[in-house]
Amino acid sequence: MAGRRRGPFIAGNWKMNLGLHEARDLARKVVDAEPELRECTTVLIPPFTALETVRGTVAGSAVALGAQNLYWEDAGAFTGEVSAPMLRDAGCAYVLVGHSERRQLFGETDGTVNRKAKAALKAGLVPIVCVGEVLAERDAGRTLERIDEQLARGLESVSGQDLERVVVAYEPVWAIGTGRTASPGQAQEVQAHIRDRIRKSYGNGTADCAIILYGGSVKPANSYPLFKENDIDGFLVGGASLSGLSFLGIAREALRAYGEEK
Ligand code: 13P
Repeated sequence: MAGRRRGPFIAGNWKMNLGLHEARDLARKVVDAEPELRECTTVLIPPFTALETVRGTVAGSAVALGAQNLYWEDAGAFTGEVSAPMLRDAGCAYVLVGHSERRQLFGETDGTVNRKAKAALKAGLVPIVCVGEVLAERDAGRTLERIDEQLARGLESVSGQDLERVVVAYEPVWAIGTGRTASPGQAQEVQAHIRDRIRKSYGNGTADCAIILYGGSVKPANSYPLFKENDIDGFLVGGASLSGLSFLGIAREALRAYGEEK
């Protein structure tokens, strides 16, 4: 299928949830399922406090570790912040950048997203750059325009070589934590647009290999038809990633759809 070269990419954003025992148990369930997830890229994104615990649990497996946020300076007097080199040191391979909750509740802008994405890349982390429109923008017919702004500013001066390491996650804000998933058609329209923007800026090779995730109320019951869409390469899962059963259920459904494409 054009534009899809890899197995499903499934990331669980645990947000501000789970103590150390729960984190260990959940990570263990995912690691135990590894033999059936071989074709998936699986990433667990716990809160900072559980990074070390989850790192220890996934060590030696193919399950990767990610963080939910970072600051763009490497070190210094920035109370409460964590840098990209610190995340590397803590065993992270991935980091979320510009999640809509950070944009809406913590004042992140496309400018800070850009600084964070570049800091992540410089440190050798893969930034998962989140974009998405709010309901008012969708209702006003401004979805694609808003996505374009977020991509243009958020990825400003990121080189083609670096862009090949970036994962983009489309998360319509009105679908996050609401139980209201974008329909496969709605998600595909935006995901195809994102790939098209990457194609225009970086060329066919980069666009065809780009990993573009969908996020927003993904569950086992809706992941199969979403993954069947051409430009949905996997999922950034919130609520449903807090249970092994539902997170692994999503991965299995994506693998089922992926298997049918071969
Ligand atoms: P939900 O899956 O809970 O809607 O959250 C999506 C999300 O924000 C993942 O980053």
